Amino acid sequence: MLEKMKRWTSLKEPESLSQRINECKNYEIPDHIAIIMDGNGRWANKRALPRVAGHHEGMKTVKPVTRLANELGVKVLTLYAFSTENWVRPKMEVEFLMKLPEEFLGTFLPELIEENVQVQMMGDREQVPAHTLRAVDQAMEKTAHNDGLVLNFALNYGSRSEILQAVKSFSSDVKEGKVSPDELTDDLFGSYMMTPHLGDPDLLIRTSGEIRLSNFMLWQLAYTEFWFTDVLWPDFKEEHLIEAIEGFQKRSRRYGGLKSEDLT
Ligand code: FPP
Repeated sequence: MLEKMKRWTSLKEPESLSQRINECKNYEIPDHIAIIMDGNGRWANKRALPRVAGHHEGMKTVKPVTRLANELGVKVLTLYAFSTENWVRPKMEVEFLMKLPEEFLGTFLPELIEENVQVQMMGDREQVPAHTLRAVDQAMEKTAHNDGLVLNFALNYGSRSEILQAVKSFSSDVKEGKVSPDELTDDLFGSYMMTPHLGDPDLLIRTSGEIRLSNFMLWQLAYTEFWFTDVLWPDFKEEHLIEAIEGFQKRSRRYGGLKSEDLT
């Protein structure tokens, strides 16, 4: 608790971004940050630009956020890039979104390799166009041996579908006699999801003022700290990530229990 109080008081003075970054490093950095990158369309709308211009600008935001997460020692950064529900958007917008991984990785992959970042993807590969998968697969292959930050793209990802898939796989293992329903625990069920190797997010950020989860990591977010901001994703800068982490560092995570200082 004393540590958290120090964090409160030390933030009263206005600090430069680099001071805030350094200060942040003195406290717990979330191992896994997940971001719902929302507000691209509204960003474009405000400027009388087509929606895809907002997505393009949103793609550019991913670079500084990844760099800073890496610098801070975040272990996993999961970004919701395309949901299983996004297919109903106009064909042109969907096609544009599916080209962004190629463009992003086309310019950023050498830096990701250099900076020891490992690219991963979670989601249903089935409907994703071959050209998109090619770019992502190539990035995954070329960064497979990196052991720094994991940059995990949620692409054609939907949480309910992930949970249903896990239930189906578990049931099939039961049928084949590989496992008994009595053995089912949180951990065992989690191992049927797409993320057992990544750990659950410690911090979820959603931009653009929407306060909902939109079918994102429903199982994994059970004990995650949430940070909602009105900032639209293309306007999200390093200082906003720092603000979210500073907010996280002031939280008291109890996982349903009590902190030792409250046990009196
Ligand atoms: C939601 O904003 C955003 C998306 C559906 C796409 C997010 C994708 C990116 C930010 C680019 C991803 C980058 C890479 C490298 C893959 P919205 O369109 O729903 O915005 P709105 O609610 O303001 O209309």
